[in-house]
Amino acid sequence: MSYTSAYFQKSADFLRTKTGRTPEIGIVLGSCLGPFAREIEDPVEVDYGDIPNFLLSTVASHAGKLIFGTVSGRSVVCMSGRFHSYEGYSFEELVIPVRVLRLLGVKTLILTNAAGAVNRDYRPGDVMVLRDHIKLNGSSPLLGPNVEDFGPRFFDVTRMYTPELRKLALDLAQGSSLRVHEGTYMFFPGPQFETPAEIRAARALGADAVGMSTVTEALTAAHCGMPLLALSVITNMAAGVLDRPLSGEEVDEAAERVAKPFSDYMKKIVAAI
Ligand code: HPA
Repeated sequence: MSYTSAYFQKSADFLRTKTGRTPEIGIVLGSCLGPFAREIEDPVEVDYGDIPNFLLSTVASHAGKLIFGTVSGRSVVCMSGRFHSYEGYSFEELVIPVRVLRLLGVKTLILTNAAGAVNRDYRPGDVMVLRDHIKLNGSSPLLGPNVEDFGPRFFDVTRMYTPELRKLALDLAQGSSLRVHEGTYMFFPGPQFETPAEIRAARALGADAVGMSTVTEALTAAHCGMPLLALSVITNMAAGVLDRPLSGEEVDEAAERVAKPFSDYMKKIVAAI
């Protein structure tokens, strides 16, 4: 599929007409970080299935709706449920959500995810502010004809995780009960968790945490020059760090435990942006 601007504009026009909202901050909620959605005041919800030219969320712990509203007095749109390549979506399709948010007027994007810790100093329940990422699977969401309206064919990603937003998030960690680190996220396509050997390789390459999302949205935001903050909630030690198997339930339970302090932390970040 090669996209044109009009393709994304159709979704944005629908949403603008339906909600009458002009959000300034876009927030993507990762696995089981959905409870943050309850913090949104004056909400207007739109199911993904009702949005023309949009995608459908297939993961049980992802709700599958856009929520427009107010957080800390700021106008936001929240993706409650995101799309992953392991659901069968191509990297190219995964540009859709962020481009639609951009067309809706979003100026700053916050991505959240659940991730496994590669760094042995991290613990489940900690948060990692992404400083950078590693993605060695050879694909890119920007593959195919470039849509010039969003950005240039070749684009810089050295500052894609916006330094000022990273500093803000680290500064705001001071008053929080969360342990907040800054580190490098490594993308693995999943849906299987990584092998212990892959985690050893990730560590040797400089990764601090691993996960199955975020990089497509981050690259799409970088392409259109959108300021970006990405946060990982560490839900487990990555494969082989502890001598026991990993499970989706372990990830869900850890995300649930941290939901409240994480929501409070997110609200402070939104207020300060
Ligand atoms: N690996 C990949 N994705 C994840 C993990 C993990 O250990 N934990 C939560 N999401």
